[in-house]
Amino acid sequence: MWYDSKHVEILDPKEWYNLIANEYKNYHNHLTSFDKWFFLSLLPRETASMDVIDLGAGDGRIYRILQAKNYAFNSYTACDISEKLLKQHPAILSSFNKGGDHRTEDLKKVICDVENTLPFEDQSFDLAFSFFVLEHIADVDHVFVEMERILRSWGKRIIGHFLQRREFIWKKGPNSFKIRLYNHRLQDIEKIGRKNLFDVTNYPIYEKWNLIWYIIVCEK
Ligand SMILES: C[S@@+](CC[C@H](N)C(=O)[O-])C[C@H]1O[C@@H](n2cnc3c(N)ncnc32)[C@H](O)[C@@H]1O
Repeated sequence: MWYDSKHVEILDPKEWYNLIANEYKNYHNHLTSFDKWFFLSLLPRETASMDVIDLGAGDGRIYRILQAKNYAFNSYTACDISEKLLKQHPAILSSFNKGGDHRTEDLKKVICDVENTLPFEDQSFDLAFSFFVLEHIADVDHVFVEMERILRSWGKRIIGHFLQRREFIWKKGPNSFKIRLYNHRLQDIEKIGRKNLFDVTNYPIYEKWNLIWYIIVCEK
């Protein structure tokens, strides 16, 4: 924990997201409005046989979007450093199917820090998501090294990268908090992706002619 010049306490992501875990869902619509489901157009056509990992899955905002659109997967692994947010990730899948058959895939929740070595075997996933997460990560290169390791050949990683212009201050009673953030440049993320043997394509997303964020697709 440390303070900036205006004496607002800066929390690391684990503390921050555990603290706001019950309120995070209030931001779902706002976060979804950035992308407006564009990322769905970047998904492989056939996902039913795929093993999917969501790094920094939070309380399952992305998962719920996929569920509402009836996407099917072979397995879905939700990882997060905040155990309180992950606790709210939907655990049971009932109508998560694309073709109408009532399949129930394997949904796992794993508490882990993506800055460490991930607790997964080499080449165990086909598709990886991380939305609004890289901005909390100091060592982006390490995350790409791990992605290269755990994704199978032809695996795809879809990143939602927010351009943070203003720091968000959250007030709780008399206290104010900021979250620790890193403003990684898109060029640096692309460079790190290519160094780790991914083909990288970025899709700028605009709102009222302002660039607000990027969807970055990395293909192995
Ligand atoms: C802005 S939220 C995004 C959650 C979800 N991806 C979404 O789009 O709604 C950032 C998430 O990253 C997680 N996170 C931050 N640093 C992390 C780390 N080092 N390892 C794992 N998860 C992390 C947080 O706990 C939080 O759930």
